[in-house]
Amino acid sequence: MIGKASQTRDGIRLYQDADFEGMRKAGAVTARILDEIAEHVFPGQTTAEIDRIITAKVTEYGTTSATIGYKGYEHASCISVNHVVCHGIPGDKKLKDGDILNIDVTVILDGWFGDSSRMYVAGKLSRKSERLIQVTHDALMKGIEAVKPGNTFGDIGHAIQTYAESHRMSIVRDFCGHGLGQVFHAPPNVLHYGRPGTGPTLEEGMFFTIEPMVNLGRPETKVLADDWTAVTRDKSLSAQFEHSIGVTGSGYDIFTLSPTGKFHPTYA
Ligand code: MF3
Ligand code: CO
Ligand code: CO
Repeated sequence: MIGKASQTRDGIRLYQDADFEGMRKAGAVTARILDEIAEHVFPGQTTAEIDRIITAKVTEYGTTSATIGYKGYEHASCISVNHVVCHGIPGDKKLKDGDILNIDVTVILDGWFGDSSRMYVAGKLSRKSERLIQVTHDALMKGIEAVKPGNTFGDIGHAIQTYAESHRMSIVRDFCGHGLGQVFHAPPNVLHYGRPGTGPTLEEGMFFTIEPMVNLGRPETKVLADDWTAVTRDKSLSAQFEHSIGVTGSGYDIFTLSPTGKFHPTYA
């Protein structure tokens, strides 16, 4: 078995201590790009231009994009505006004052994947959008705080779901987080809802994302004719935050933390 990576019964790979460093380096580049893109978000800007800037930075920082060429996707980012839940395709439509957007970037560095997303605003943030964004961010952090060996994936989902629903918001069921590491998407599916004690047990060396999508209205989504863009069926606003994390002996490591503390809020 020499050289064979270990994995759990559920097919979840367990990485070694040295692998954490590879993930930290990849995650740091993703975080830097998400930090630096903030100043390029303003009314009148197009999401295609934001993506063009991200594409240039991916190369400048010695990484490659995990999304360009992934299942036919052609961009270095997904940019999801207002009622777009996820997988928004960058385009020529101009951002309007008060638009909220999720920017999701995944880079590959030395074979390691760094996947993260945050919320941004063009111009002035409304009170209602601010509330949605705050609750979504805090829901992610509640989920992350449930990460330690011995807890289960159901504990993570439960922490996220109960927090969002206690604020009368809803959790999207149609998309989930995922294992990652030396691949983009691997087992397990990381659900953002669930019951305590259910699902696989967390073990040291698991790497995965947590990336809850929270809607102000109902949780149902639909995918548009472009086969990517997922929107809320009721057209209500949606927000999302994503970190790539690893399970340590006593808790977690967040690989995609902002070096400048700008994960949230990204705006002043
Ligand atoms: N980064 C997304 C995630 O969090 C995946 C985007 S796949 C793409 O898993 F092809 F739409 F870019
Ligand atoms: Co992801
Ligand atoms: Co992502």
